[in-house]
Amino acid sequence: MARTEETNMDLKGQIDREKLPRHIAMIMDGNGRWAKQHNKPRVFGHRNGVKAVREVTEAAAEIGIDYLTLYAFSTENWSRPKLEVDALMRLLVETLNKEVATLNKNKIRLDAIGNLDLLPPSTHKALLQGMESTRENDRMTLILALNYSGKWDLVQAARQLAKKAVEGTLDPDSISEDDLARTLSTTNIPDPELLIRTSGERRLSNYLLWQLAYAELYFTPVFWPDYRKNHLYEAIIDFQRRERRFGRISEQLA
Ligand code: IPE
Ligand code: IPE
Ligand code: MG
Repeated sequence: MARTEETNMDLKGQIDREKLPRHIAMIMDGNGRWAKQHNKPRVFGHRNGVKAVREVTEAAAEIGIDYLTLYAFSTENWSRPKLEVDALMRLLVETLNKEVATLNKNKIRLDAIGNLDLLPPSTHKALLQGMESTRENDRMTLILALNYSGKWDLVQAARQLAKKAVEGTLDPDSISEDDLARTLSTTNIPDPELLIRTSGERRLSNYLLWQLAYAELYFTPVFWPDYRKNHLYEAIIDFQRRERRFGRISEQLA
């Protein structure tokens, strides 16, 4: 057996299947620095990040994770050089078209959150096609956060609720946390219990701000293109060693 395969099996075996997070959110970071290390243009890093997406998706589905949300493009990422943004959008189309068959084979449903209407038409179309063609799959849901930001999500929810209040179908005083949560783009999806960010950065960068309110945060120095199944196993094992207290004290948890 190859060495990496052995390590994978060891780590995978340490995961407690009874204590899995239902939802893992990831910030795939470090493509540019990875490319720089290899003396290549940034886009080379993005292209090599696709393998990591494939690995993580497969590993998560195999272990039995229900939802995996990947931050693929933030609202702020439009500020990057046009060449890089265009290349990323093209890479998305290419990857979506290529990977849909594998998603179907692995019974994975594709979903997306973010201000999708503002994506380039070809990217939007590939995304909708991918979602449509994987609609019936029920093993795991892979959610791409595209043109997403946590603040955008809260604002779009506020607008929806305000419209209902103006129409008279919603009493502003009755608005609850559940109402707001249901109005976010992640409606019906449980909040992530675990957030993983690669590349050593320790910030949320406007990711799922509301939804991550009680998530366990896990940071790894590994650049995204180097991220493999064993890295995900390590993060889950670390998560399972933590005590999630939700405001209580240890003794109350037993
Ligand atoms: C993450 O890698 C990918 C996207 C944001 C699309 P980066 O491109 O941010 O890589 P670094 O952080 O510059 O190394
Ligand atoms: C966050 O990464 C967005 C994605 C991974 C898509 P960035 O690399 O854009 O974040 P900052 O700019 O370093 O905070
Ligand atoms: Mg980055």
